[in-house]
Amino acid sequence: MNLLIMGLPGAGKGTQAAKIVERFGVAHISTGDMFRAAMANQTEMGKLAKSYIDKGELVPDEVTNGIVKERLAQTDIAEKGFLLDGYPRTIEQAYALDQTLAELNITLDGVINIEVNPDSLLERLSGRIIHKVTGETFHKVFNPPAGDYNEDDYYQREDDKPETVKRRLDVNIAQGEPILAHYREKNLVHDIQGNQEIDSVFADVEKVISSLK
Ligand code: AP5
Ligand code: MG
Repeated sequence: MNLLIMGLPGAGKGTQAAKIVERFGVAHISTGDMFRAAMANQTEMGKLAKSYIDKGELVPDEVTNGIVKERLAQTDIAEKGFLLDGYPRTIEQAYALDQTLAELNITLDGVINIEVNPDSLLERLSGRIIHKVTGETFHKVFNPPAGDYNEDDYYQREDDKPETVKRRLDVNIAQGEPILAHYREKNLVHDIQGNQEIDSVFADVEKVISSLK
């Protein structure tokens, strides 16, 4: 199964991706996670990515297309399939992905589009907390860790500051429509209502993916 998951910042792509990976065994490819890993390791690519991410801007297409192409060419992808999260994010990236998939002889099976009211996203992102050891994502109010948890075990993303979030939303709203139109033309898009409880969103996602098998 080869899938994309799309949605605005905070729509719940990463949250649903973790559940999809657990249920369907596909490889999770998140460009945001790849950039954050490179930033943590202070590689050249990480330093370059940081200069864009901290401002809420997109990393240049050449860089992003390159890391995705490299990852999709690895041997586990042909066996497990993949779920791309946060890519493509410009129409040029969508065209580059079409070309990469054609070269690798891979067919895309579906695009999960999580639709959310943008007004709910600031609250979601400002309350997001991530476990320092496992990397698991929670929310202080909507999805708190079980039991009495120690806040020191969690961190917040640098780009979740309100000023940066506003820019991220503007950038993603502007870029998103042509990409969806591109995949709607190919009849690949499945719209999911994202303003529901996390488990209800996943129930809808699960139904869609099961119908693709
Ligand atoms: P990336 O990491 O992809 O960030 P994003 O698209 O802004 O999306 P998020 O990860 O913030 O949100 P999400 O949809 O995964 O939500 P989550 O599940 O965590 O990209 C970061 C940056 O990297 C970009 O700004 C850009 O600079 C760069 N970049 C990445 N890819 C790129 C590309 N292709 N090209 C160029 N640049 C690129 O949920 C959010 C919160 O809400 C959590 O706290 C969660 O618990 C909670 N939540 C989730 N679902 C629900 C629900 N149903 N109800 C209530 N709360 C919920
Ligand atoms: Mg994410």
